[in-house]
Formats: sequence, structure tokens, C-alpha cells
Amino acid sequence: MSADPDHYGVVGHPVAHSWSPFIHGMFAKQTSQNLTYRLYDVPPAEFRERIVGFFAGGGRGLNVTLPHKIAAAEMANELTPRAARAHAVNTLVARSDGTLLGDNTDGAGLVHDLCDNLGVVIIRRRILIIGAGGATRGVLAPLLALEPAELVIANRTRERAQTLAADFRDLGAISGVGFGEIPAGAFDLVVNATSASLSGEVPEVPATVVGKETVCYDMAYGKSDTAFIRWARNLGCARAIQGWGMLVEQAAESFRVWRGIRPPTAPVLAALKERATGVAT
Ligand code: ATR
Repeated sequence: MSADPDHYGVVGHPVAHSWSPFIHGMFAKQTSQNLTYRLYDVPPAEFRERIVGFFAGGGRGLNVTLPHKIAAAEMANELTPRAARAHAVNTLVARSDGTLLGDNTDGAGLVHDLCDNLGVVIIRRRILIIGAGGATRGVLAPLLALEPAELVIANRTRERAQTLAADFRDLGAISGVGFGEIPAGAFDLVVNATSASLSGEVPEVPATVVGKETVCYDMAYGKSDTAFIRWARNLGCARAIQGWGMLVEQAAESFRVWRGIRPPTAPVLAALKERATGVAT
């Protein structure tokens, strides 16, 4: 007789369109792990109570998505160093003593996609990140660990970029600027970490940040190209990539934290893109 499965899930609001059950379902199959993974749509006012209930009922781990990532960091009994730096948690783990560990796998997800899947070099290169919200904060430490020549955060509201850069200055060459003050010359990598894609907008950064060799990466993803991807292509960049790979890689990293095994991501990424866009890769 097979043992009862372990229970996992993702908590967000809204969360109905999350790809996480599909991704973790494939990971579990690939690695023969006996687990369930469900969606939990929880409004902010009920977050604490529902999380306590999930783990009291024997749940083993949760992914946490918008708008709960900061609340999850406040609720965890202990944070991993990368979650503490991010001030946000996307992965909660039940420990055997009944306490909760909070981790953040978003930055590792981006770095795995860039370096392992896409072969993008970060060391001694010029990196521009557009946006200064939670999405940017989550990826700064892992990117700086790869020792870029410079990492510039550009934000519509300049003060947020400056404050964020100051928080990470101990980790490397980082600066925060407004859109009008971005240092001259094309960057090697331009990452869009704003929420502008969600409303079909493109941040108003000068076109000169993109050159023929520039790799452009949108953390957002969709059935068709985001506005940022279209903008980057029109400027003649080397490659323009949506964030599907980051999505799958952060999930793989959460799976590893929970199960101690890192699932292969290429088949899941291909299946996900095919299912989402109807185009086989
Ligand atoms: P998240 O946690 O997803 O990063 P957030 O903290 O609300 O969300 O931050 C959203 C980011 O997208 C901010 O950097 C925001 O710029 P401001 O700080 O100036 O508000 C940026 N953003 C959203 N819409 C934008 C747009 N149309 N153009 C440029 N930047 C935009």
C-alpha cells in the first residue's frame, strides 16, 4: 500500500491562473515524489489564520505569491539569508519542530534561467534593471554575487531606486537612478522588473540602453509577446526573452528546498510554453 501524499500548494489573491500546480505536478511525476499541490485563494485579512490552519493540518510547504510575500516573511519563524535580503518570502517550509522557515527562490530562479538555460554572462558585464519594487529587490543579491561590472537600477520614481541601491551597496557595484539619469551606452543585459507589462505599457527608458548585443529579459510572461519584448525587438536587441524560464526555475528551487531533489526543468518549460501559447518549442 502506498503512503499518503504530502501536501503543498500556492497561496495568493487572485491565484486561479497560477501555473504552479501544473509545474509542480510535472516535477512530482518526473522525480516520483508522492505529493499533492493545490491553489489557495486567500484574501490578505485571512492570510495568517489560513496559513496556520494549512500547516496545523499537516501541510508540508507553500509557495506564496502576490500580495502575500511580505506577510509571509513576517510570519516565518526564521528566514534564509536570501529571504531576509529580499524582505519577502515565496516559499514556506514546515520544519519537524513545528516552526516555519521562509525562503525566497525568485532570484535563484532568474539566475538559473539566465546562466544555465540562456547562457547569459553576468561577470564584468553592465546590467540594467528597470523597476524598484519587490520583484527587483528579490533578485539583487544573487545577481550581484555574479560580480557584474555595474548594476544600475532605474525607476520612474528615482528615490525608490536610490534607496534600494543603498540597501545592497555592501554586495557590489550598484547604483539607483531615475529614467533620465541612466549612464550612457548600451547595456549587456536589460531586465524589466516593473509591473508595466501587466497593463501593456513600456517603461519610458531611453532607447540607447539597448544595442545590437543587448539581451533583454522581461520578468513578466504571457501568451504573446509583452510590450517590453516588442519594444526591445524593434530596437534590434540580440535576444528578447519572457520570464517563463524564471517561473519554472524558481519553482524547481522551491521543490528542491522541500524535497531535497532538483527536478529537470527543460521538459517542464517546453510543456508550459506549449500549453500557454499553443506553440511547441
Ligand atoms: P513588485 O513587487 O511587483 O515589484 P511594486 O512594488 O508595486 O511591485 O513595484 C512596481 C514597479 O513597477 C515600480 O518600480 C513601479 O515604478 P514606481 O516605483 O515609479 O511606481 C514600476 N512601474 C509600474 N508601472 C510602470 C510604468 N507604466 N512605467 C514605469 N514603471 C512602472
